[in-house]
Amino acid sequence: MKDIKLGLLLGNEISMPDALEGLLKKLNLKIEHEGETYTFDTERITIEPFNIRYKPNYNLVVERVSHWHTNPREWLKKILLDGVYVVNNPFTFQSIEKHTGFCMLAKLGVNIPDTWLLPQKDQSDLLQEALELYSKLFDLEEIAESIGYPIYMKPYDGGGWVGVKKINNLEELHKAFDESGKRMQHLQKGIEHDKFCRALNIGPQILPMQYEPKNPLHQRYVINFDYLTPKEGNEMVKLTKLVGAIFGWEYNSCEVAIDKETLYPVDFCNAVPDSSFMSLHFYFPWIIKALIRWTTFCSVTGRKFRFDLNWQKYLDVAESAISYEEKLDKYMEIADDYFETEKFEEFCAKHLSHLDEAAYEFFTSEEMNKIIERKIRKKFPEHEFDEFTSHYKGIRDFWAKCEHDKMKATV
Ligand SMILES: Nc1ncnc2c1ncn2[C@@H]1O[C@H](COP(=O)(O)OP(=O)(O)O)[C@@H](O)[C@H]1O
Ligand SMILES: [Mg+2]
Repeated sequence: MKDIKLGLLLGNEISMPDALEGLLKKLNLKIEHEGETYTFDTERITIEPFNIRYKPNYNLVVERVSHWHTNPREWLKKILLDGVYVVNNPFTFQSIEKHTGFCMLAKLGVNIPDTWLLPQKDQSDLLQEALELYSKLFDLEEIAESIGYPIYMKPYDGGGWVGVKKINNLEELHKAFDESGKRMQHLQKGIEHDKFCRALNIGPQILPMQYEPKNPLHQRYVINFDYLTPKEGNEMVKLTKLVGAIFGWEYNSCEVAIDKETLYPVDFCNAVPDSSFMSLHFYFPWIIKALIRWTTFCSVTGRKFRFDLNWQKYLDVAESAISYEEKLDKYMEIADDYFETEKFEEFCAKHLSHLDEAAYEFFTSEEMNKIIERKIRKKFPEHEFDEFTSHYKGIRDFWAKCEHDKMKATV
């Protein structure tokens, strides 16, 4: 018997870890693999000093805070060298950021909107001699004109909509740049779109969802099963899987503006994609189940963390004289190789065929009701508690009905 220890490195989340731990406990997994029986245990990780030679006792860590905290980020790099599997890759999330992501996908032929990187408005922190010698004056208006309005000015890194501005004219352009301070900015063509889709990926599992960024938080993900055409859905899944594999992001989300069946990725570097029940609601059970599948697969099979991302393989495909659709298919071969998709699917079929049923019981249980109530108490004022409790439980009940119908249909 081997006990797998799954570490959870968390920020301010409640519902995701509570549900993950609750469902894992309910499942009480005992997975037989190559002559060994594996059981599972979770532990919430604390942030503390560590000796670089100490031996961590985790098999796998799901991390949700290192994007903001440097101590755990460096700890993750250390434990990776000790053989612990980590979701996500702390090296690439630190080094790639949005900018390299845009450059790489553009190089692969993906429709990244026209994007420029500007020098910082306030350069007082930079090496002054280099600036005096080599910094070139530039015409901001000319760049904007070449892109065409509307334009988004957005930080080359970061997230959470901080500093993202939609610009419609010269006046707004100068105002936005003047206000950007020391933060380096992209100018990106604003895509007028008829659809906006956000897809989550956990390993090679991908869930595209209609996403309405302007709605209040609890209504941004829209329950709509036929939102994308088959063509759009197919490409959305491929792009999301490509992003996950090429950057080593195994718990990520990909935002795409869609205009007349053409997909324009605008934000796909999300180190800590929103996984809260409050925002995901109907889709929340999906992410918990997907996490259980991916973490058990990686830990039981001893999947090795991919330090190398094999970019040249993708770049070679990009150089070849084939259509974009054919390139996407070739990229998928490399991505499926990265994720070991076939082996993963076999693992799930063999060891986790009862997951849907256990999840149905868990998400309709009193324990889940408590998770929902606790989250609502934290997020909403007392006088809105009843209203939002019935709102969210109603959505959960709708999920249960859909799930029940699906399970009945597949029996
Ligand atoms: N090029 C673009 N075209 C259309 N909408 C955009 C574009 N860039 C950003 N947006 C809108 O602005 C929102 C926030 O920008 P985003 O790049 O996702 O930054 P963040 O990482 O802070 O979420 C997006 O969800 C989208 O609604
Ligand atoms: Mg975004």
